[in-house]
Amino acid sequence: MKFDQNKKISTFTSKTSTNPMKQILLKYADNGDNNFETFLQLNTHKILNGRKYINDDEVNYLLPIDKIEADREAISYAIRRCLFQKYFFAPIGEKLNTGATVLDIGCGPGFWIKDVGLDHPSSTFIGIDIATTQFPPHDRHPSNVGFLRCNATHGIPFPSETFDFVHISMMCTAFTEYQWYQVIKDVVRVLKYSGWVEIIVSDPLIKNLGKAGKLVMETFFEICEKQGININIHATMPEIIGSVNELEDLEHISAEYPIGDWGGCLGKYAATNLRKALEGIVLTDF
Ligand SMILES: C[S@@+](CC[C@H](N)C(=O)[O-])C[C@H]1O[C@@H](n2cnc3c(N)ncnc32)[C@H](O)[C@@H]1O
Repeated sequence: MKFDQNKKISTFTSKTSTNPMKQILLKYADNGDNNFETFLQLNTHKILNGRKYINDDEVNYLLPIDKIEADREAISYAIRRCLFQKYFFAPIGEKLNTGATVLDIGCGPGFWIKDVGLDHPSSTFIGIDIATTQFPPHDRHPSNVGFLRCNATHGIPFPSETFDFVHISMMCTAFTEYQWYQVIKDVVRVLKYSGWVEIIVSDPLIKNLGKAGKLVMETFFEICEKQGININIHATMPEIIGSVNELEDLEHISAEYPIGDWGGCLGKYAATNLRKALEGIVLTDF
């Protein structure tokens, strides 16, 4: 939770991208049942090994941003729903019922924000993401949920003290450690006093891996290191949060789950999710 210590909060300034975007307006039919407009950003994507990735030297994100990845994120979201049995742990439910403003950083296809938005029609939800490719069409999300393209490491494009709740989920392969410090500092800036931040990060420790699994994970760790990603960011998170010196009531919740057929339905989906995530990273020559 953010507390008021009457301190002026400094923010970091946006960097100017060295990779300017070219935009054209493209009109196309979505499955023939509705027409809508979208901006196609010509040089924002690159294709590697048949998968679509962000094409920006300043972005360290390792996973693809295509339909296959959106399907994997659906599985990943379903696993978390099954494990946690709730949309959030922060004591913000009452506020969400009466009317709150919520930010989801790196919202992807918006599975979480759409569900929570539907459940809390009196509140306003904004999902931000660097890739628009996975945003749902305008008519396929609740009207109290909106999506905005932005690079969170360039500053969160909202005034100070805008949000009651900031949610960041599964962004472990998105930010370098330095960028995590920047982003959390800016999260605190846009957070209202008495607001809440919830961060979900994964621990890459997988017990009882076989020989092949170990090899794949080692390659994954090497790629992360090369890209400047600290895959053990969960361990540094308390330090990052402490560095802002404006958050209190830090609570840490951890959940273990099976990966593999031995773990029943959840284990099977978890194995598919892990395999698909690693395929998107390890098979690609960055
Ligand atoms: C693994 S997905 C997580 C999606 C969702 N939060 C979830 O929990 O399922 C990470 C998301 O972060 C986005 N992302 C990566 N780097 C980003 C950045 N610098 N700024 C904003 N979004 C970013 C990616 O496009 C992707 O949609």
